[in-house]
Amino acid sequence: MKPRIIIDKNAVLGKVEPEVFGSFVEHLGRCVYNGIYEPDHPLADERGFRKDVIAAIADLHVPVLRYPGGNFVSGYDWKDTIGPNRRTVLDLAWKALESNEVGIDEFAYFAEQVGSEVMMAVNLATDTIKSAHEIVEYCNLEDKGYWANLRKEHGREKPYKFRYWCLGNEMDGPWQIGTKTAEEYGIIATEAAKVMKWVDPSIKVIACGSSASANPTFPMWDREVLEKCFDVVDYLSLHHYFTYLTPEHDLGDFYGSAMTFDHYISTLQSTLEYVKAVKRSKKQIYFAVDEWNVWHAFDGSNKVVKDWELGLPLLENHYDFADAVVVATLLSTLINHADIVKMACFAQLVNVIAPILTEKGGCLVKQTIYYPISMISKAFAGTDALRTFSSIKKYETKSHGAAPEIYNSVSYNKETGEYIVLLVNTSQENKDIELIFDQDVELISSDVYQCDDPHQKNTLENPFAIIPSKETIEDKSKNRTHSVELGLNAIKVLIFK
Ligand code: AHR
Repeated sequence: MKPRIIIDKNAVLGKVEPEVFGSFVEHLGRCVYNGIYEPDHPLADERGFRKDVIAAIADLHVPVLRYPGGNFVSGYDWKDTIGPNRRTVLDLAWKALESNEVGIDEFAYFAEQVGSEVMMAVNLATDTIKSAHEIVEYCNLEDKGYWANLRKEHGREKPYKFRYWCLGNEMDGPWQIGTKTAEEYGIIATEAAKVMKWVDPSIKVIACGSSASANPTFPMWDREVLEKCFDVVDYLSLHHYFTYLTPEHDLGDFYGSAMTFDHYISTLQSTLEYVKAVKRSKKQIYFAVDEWNVWHAFDGSNKVVKDWELGLPLLENHYDFADAVVVATLLSTLINHADIVKMACFAQLVNVIAPILTEKGGCLVKQTIYYPISMISKAFAGTDALRTFSSIKKYETKSHGAAPEIYNSVSYNKETGEYIVLLVNTSQENKDIELIFDQDVELISSDVYQCDDPHQKNTLENPFAIIPSKETIEDKSKNRTHSVELGLNAIKVLIFK
């Protein structure tokens, strides 16, 4: 018998907030310099940002951009990045040079060009609480005080009104400049958030959770930080990256990665519920999964090419079709946690573990992972994720426990009356699946991204090797049951009405 998914539009899990399809721009490698910003490029705009990159980002539908780091933020001095005089400094996080040519005002301009909000991070590792409330003054206040007036002097009359503020980055990690214990971090994060909100009570703040489920302090870190910061924070930040965990790069195992992601989110949701119970509180804190992606280091791309240089390649992954499949399953997992995950940022946007790869002075390529992000964000943002029942078989993996042969997410758009279905075939064979709806519906569109060869890539030489296509719909009848065919490694987004 074919596997089945039972779909009921009233079984709402939670809204898929558009912010779940956010991204991340860090001053790292060629993400900013020689990535989004390349003033000598023939397609650079009057402020030095590449127009072809801006156009490619538009189709990713990215509502929010986390900035400026990452590990970078723990050495960041925002006051070096504003006004006419910029100091060139060492970036200890990535052993690079930082010219500060792109600062707050330049990045805010770029974000406006791509239609995104900035999710700003403050440095709670080596900078002060005072500096954290002053940056909020600079960015968000109309005209009160020195910093807001300085922004106006720098040519930006209206405040940016950035809504989301990260309280540092990965403060649990020993690789971080100024790592802290959960207690130390809990105290500084609480105090910083308190005064930042005194300056602008409308902001939402995000506390650092564990930076990976493999960290020895997971999930105690999260419990303790939540206990300390509970009353002032709005989101807890989660980070997770995935790669092959078997020496032979077993595909079935890699395709099970999202099971670890799912377990990570569920464990932290339980941790949050525990703290809520201890506090006897009804306050709801949400999760910002503000770094997630596939990240391979086995190709040597994690190595700094040359110390103390500006804009050299670092963490540049050349993604294949298997990576696109895993990215689709990770997005499916985020959608299937729509009750608690209200923000997420795929890391990163350009060149650094990114869907867009640029050539200095030349073209760009939309990597394989670009397409599932684009297809899924366009279809699911703002809809209601549904809980479904399914009879999809699972298989055992070495690293991630039992994983489904077909990942799925289903949502409902109450404005248009459309059901949106994401199916990802990880079974390594062709599959048929049956969708059973709560009413008669017709298939109105079917976008497919599929490739038999999991190791096929889009490259600068062959940038359109694998692109999505729209399937012709033969059967336009309205039925409660629809059968869907899935080719090898297929990612499908279907809309029914
Ligand atoms: O995204 C690359 C790095 O991964 C970020 O700087 C850091 O936060 C994480 O460890």
